[in-house]
Amino acid sequence: MASNADYVHGYSETEAQRLRDQAESVRDLLHHDTRFPAGSLVLEAGCGVGAQTVTLARNSPDANIVSIDHNQASLDIARRAVAQAGLSNVTFQAADIFDLPFATESFDHIFVCFILEHMKQPDDCLTALAGVLKKGGTITVIEGDHGSCYFHPATEDAVRVWNCLIDVQTSLGANPLIGRQLYPLLDQARFRDMEVTPRMVYADEGRPDLMEIFVSKTIVPMVEGVEEQAIGSELIDRARWRGGIDDLNRIAEQPGGTFCYNFFKATGVK
Ligand SMILES: C[S@@+](CC[C@H](N)C(=O)[O-])C[C@H]1O[C@@H](n2cnc3c(N)ncnc32)[C@H](O)[C@@H]1O
Repeated sequence: MASNADYVHGYSETEAQRLRDQAESVRDLLHHDTRFPAGSLVLEAGCGVGAQTVTLARNSPDANIVSIDHNQASLDIARRAVAQAGLSNVTFQAADIFDLPFATESFDHIFVCFILEHMKQPDDCLTALAGVLKKGGTITVIEGDHGSCYFHPATEDAVRVWNCLIDVQTSLGANPLIGRQLYPLLDQARFRDMEVTPRMVYADEGRPDLMEIFVSKTIVPMVEGVEEQAIGSELIDRARWRGGIDDLNRIAEQPGGTFCYNFFKATGVK
């Protein structure tokens, strides 16, 4: 755990809902090609509240998924979500990625989503996970990249609060620009045959549902989550902060707003 940055988003029910909304808004974009073969053993590292777990289990009903997290409360929520979805191919376990309670080379596949951005040493995380992956097994990693975000209208305050998110996460030892680094990180962890695909979310007033679930319910709450740190470290004052958040909300709520963000999905072979 020494290799984790302070987890900037926390573990509140609001954050759990934000993670579920985020997952729902980009489910097809991120997971239309996430499939694990029948009979394979898959480790989902850092499952959180199960926002991805339900999709993994549903897309690969004949694979066996072991989902771990070091936060017990999140695991309990994830367990309920999977049971409610009527899925029975997931086992949950409290465990730390840096102290995995599994035999070396015991998994066929590893799945990691929105984890590395919170790690001080993402390379160590990938190396730890590689240790429990069979030779010839695959890893799938999905991360965002906050430097890939642009929007209209790009008011000064909106851009400023977005940059505060990047600065606060960076000051906490996280890496909000990790998406673009997935290829070299997998390379350093000695994976081979890497393939990285950017997955772009683009929303405008022609996609009001996407605007609401991705921008209003996912992106804006994520930025709002660093308000106190941003103001406390004097990156911005309260008035400009509120103006920036209002401007971000207006992108989703008023005609003419557009929003663009890139996730990156990488696969590699051990
Ligand atoms: C942003 S959440 C992502 C959860 C989920 N993968 C998703 O996509 O919704 C990050 C999760 O990683 C977990 N985590 C972070 N470091 C970990 C570690 N060293 N071992 C196990 N879980 C960890 C946190 O507890 C949190 O639930």
